Amino acid sequence: MVSHLANPVSIQRDLQSDRLHLQHFASPQAEDCSGQDVLEGLTRHPIKTIPAQYFYDDRGSQLFEQICTLPEYYPTRTEISILASSSAAIAQAIGPCEVVELGSGNSSKIRHLLNAQQTLNFPLRYLPLDVSGSILKDSALGLLADYPSLTIAGVVATYELGLAHLPPLQLPKRIICFFGSTLGNLTPDQCDRFFKLIHRSLKPGEYFLLGVDLQKSTPILEAAYNDSQGITAAFNLNMLQHLNWRFQGNFCLENFSHRAIYNPQAQQIEMYLDSRTDQRATLSALGLEIELAQGEAILTEISRKFDLASLRQDLTAAGLPPQQIWQDPQGWFALILCQARSLTRRG
Ligand code: AVJ
Repeated sequence: MVSHLANPVSIQRDLQSDRLHLQHFASPQAEDCSGQDVLEGLTRHPIKTIPAQYFYDDRGSQLFEQICTLPEYYPTRTEISILASSSAAIAQAIGPCEVVELGSGNSSKIRHLLNAQQTLNFPLRYLPLDVSGSILKDSALGLLADYPSLTIAGVVATYELGLAHLPPLQLPKRIICFFGSTLGNLTPDQCDRFFKLIHRSLKPGEYFLLGVDLQKSTPILEAAYNDSQGITAAFNLNMLQHLNWRFQGNFCLENFSHRAIYNPQAQQIEMYLDSRTDQRATLSALGLEIELAQGEAILTEISRKFDLASLRQDLTAAGLPPQQIWQDPQGWFALILCQARSLTRRG
């Protein structure tokens, strides 16, 4: 999600009570506020790109929630079914733990784990991390009403900044949860850096719970990103609308069309906005003018589809060896429980 943080410098505490504590962080050098990343992406050769985080303005977040309920979009409901059936085992395996969630959104998935912890009479503490403060706060209030013993310390920030500023531990251990196969938006290099960040954020013996979408047949994958109701197309096109308001732009949405294809070499879905005509567009706030030829494509998202064997290797190399893996009966999606180990120890 893209942040809309007014105060660019530091910390602002806006809500404190016995059970809820929220902190806002904004980074002065964050690329996502200045538009440097858009400038860089739209002037890139050979293919222009827009960073995937620009999907998520208010309308984009709404469209994404709609995508999650589409018949063709299997990842969300598949992951939820795995969570529903594995949460008791996860809670048992990890023992009393604070639950950190990266990109917590509406916090609906985490309820499965909280329910399981509650059943075991474990203390409940939740640390949601999201760039959207309003969604985080609303979701937190909903959880407090439903879990009488729960305390929440929410962090409104990017992953990196938020993980660096988690409030002090109150329970013996932590688990960091990262659901939705959002990992798939990262290139292999970015993925390695992300695993290092997770490893730095955990003490040896603490946990990382990762939900990932797996490789499967091309027609199933492509249908998930080309739904019959056109919601994914609207989601993709909305990115231009978002750039228009954020950077005083004049992208004309009718001049672009949505395309999503599976690239089997790179093992990823690629979403594009194809230019339907020769055209120019400007983003005044960035002093940017670009030219697009008819048929030229802007890359807006990659969504990698993982192979469990190589993912296991990468996690292990990063000091996060998988302890247990849960899958749906079709093997479409996986939930991986990793336990951090010290990388400095030898043998
Ligand atoms: C939120 C990145 C996991 O890649 O499936 C859904 C985003 N894009 N439909 C995904 C998305 C188009 C989604 N992630």
